[in-house]
Amino acid sequence: MHTMATFDGYTHVDKLMEKALKEGTTKEELKEAYVAWSKTYEKDMCINHSYSGPAVAAEQLAQQMKEFGYTDDTRILDLGCGTGLVGDELVNRGYKNIDGVDLMPEMLEVAKAKGIYGLLQQGSMGSPECKDLGIGANQYDVAICVGTFTLAHVKSEGLDDLVHVVKPGGLVAFGIRERALDAPQSGYREKMDQLCKEGKWKFVAKHHEAVYLTGDGAGAWYFVYQIL
Ligand SMILES: C[S@@+](CC[C@H](N)C(=O)[O-])C[C@H]1O[C@@H](n2cnc3c(N)ncnc32)[C@H](O)[C@@H]1O
Repeated sequence: MHTMATFDGYTHVDKLMEKALKEGTTKEELKEAYVAWSKTYEKDMCINHSYSGPAVAAEQLAQQMKEFGYTDDTRILDLGCGTGLVGDELVNRGYKNIDGVDLMPEMLEVAKAKGIYGLLQQGSMGSPECKDLGIGANQYDVAICVGTFTLAHVKSEGLDDLVHVVKPGGLVAFGIRERALDAPQSGYREKMDQLCKEGKWKFVAKHHEAVYLTGDGAGAWYFVYQIL
């Protein structure tokens, strides 16, 4: 009997990340990977690779939301929400007003089936003036983005999308694995500093977690900023 081999999305996307450091990758290559990976993404990431990003980021955000007096019905946008792992972690912490946006309809379909998000829509981060995100300015009190600011995915310009969607005074939280943050060409740190200098946001907190994914060999940094 002929059986179809399971698509190893983790290894495929890992290779795209390596390629991004050398000759570069296209959005089409990334899209093809996520179309094929959407159904097995959570099993690969959570069970096979003990992905800690969503839980760690949600915890960092929840701590600061409490400090800043945000309640559990605060409007939160999960950018690059994928299949909804961050939504799961926010719900576990009592939050119940979460919307999501992602590039890939196939990933959004999985998130939708969970029934934990309000609005879920297709949109692309990192476009000039945030035009392709499809979300108006100052719509949310809080935003979170995990696993999406990384090699072959959303470049540093995508940080503008966080500033765009959150009201002045609101909070944004995001995680970036060290492999991407420390790549000289990534420009994430420079962009974070630039947004401080331009008075768009101010630093609130950062946290280092030693293990991001088993097999990655490095950790990740998590940041919280307040929009000005
Ligand atoms: C590694 S997954 C992370 C998903 C989820 N946040 C998590 O932590 O499980 C990266 C996600 O980024 C999305 N993505 C990639 N490029 C994007 C873009 N330009 N705009 C919005 N989402 C994008 C992918 O479709 C994918 O769902």
